Amino acid sequence: MSNYHTSVLLKEAVEALNVTKNGKYIDCTLGAGGHAVEIINKGGFVLGIDIDKDALDFVKENLKSQISNLKLKAVLGNFRNIDKIANENKYEKVDGILFDLGVSSHQLDTPERGFSFSKDALLDMRMDQGLSVTAKDLVNGLNKGELYELFTKLGEESFARPISNSIIRAREIKPIETTGELASVIARVYPRNLKKIHPATKAFQALRIAVNDELNSLKESLPKSVSLLKSGGRLVTITFHSLEDRIVKDQFNLFESEKLGQVITKKPIVSQEEEVEENTRARSAKLRIFEKI
Ligand SMILES: C[S@@+](CC[C@H](N)C(=O)[O-])C[C@H]1O[C@@H](n2cnc3c(N)ncnc32)[C@H](O)[C@@H]1O
Repeated sequence: MSNYHTSVLLKEAVEALNVTKNGKYIDCTLGAGGHAVEIINKGGFVLGIDIDKDALDFVKENLKSQISNLKLKAVLGNFRNIDKIANENKYEKVDGILFDLGVSSHQLDTPERGFSFSKDALLDMRMDQGLSVTAKDLVNGLNKGELYELFTKLGEESFARPISNSIIRAREIKPIETTGELASVIARVYPRNLKKIHPATKAFQALRIAVNDELNSLKESLPKSVSLLKSGGRLVTITFHSLEDRIVKDQFNLFESEKLGQVITKKPIVSQEEEVEENTRARSAKLRIFEKI
């Protein structure tokens, strides 16, 4: 679609939402608007939320001329405040809510945003550029035990201990400032035979999750989302790693046990081979659906 971001599970997510003409939908992760435009093309109205001003600017420049303000309201905000944002924009009692989690290609591919080890830039990783703590602050400020815990819990990294030790040693000489410096500090101690993925992949994931408080935002927003749904309304999530997916799966099961509705996807929907061939990011995507009673 755009250079900004290629939507994952586009058709599947919009089908999962059961879009109806004049129905109201909240897209909690607007990004480049790929999913939102499909919902609108099927006759829906969308409140789109994104924490990243770049996404809002992109949507304003590229979509607002094709789509009326009435059909798409784009709002800067964190989906953990979905209740407040929905209330302010008169999007209470909606037909569907979508979360397409994680980072956009734009965030990963823009070196100055400091998300990627493949492009050397200041270690940043803030989706909300107004946040005060960056990845650089965590890498240089946490003690050895805190770094170990971060890489273990948020990266599920088996080599958290040598990585934390290597960071502490490097910091004794000078602070770690860039994505490239951190990647090489990690690669230095990573076992060679396990380098199928870049050795820094999981550590970078852990830092990104911590900087943006991603798991807590997700945990807070899911119950609020169910409260906003009409009877028969659907909550649709696309996750990209096991920590997020576990939160969604457990929360959906809890909603079901509380008799709030039913889990439609006993097993998650995943991308077709052709999609994965065209977009490697689709490889780890898992789509889950919950329908409110
Ligand atoms: C995978 S992209 C979404 C792409 C979009 N579905 C599309 O088709 O273009 C995820 C987006 O969610 C945003 N995001 C992540 N966490 C957020 C949060 N807590 N609140 C609001 N937006 C968030 C990111 O800034 C990013 O733009």
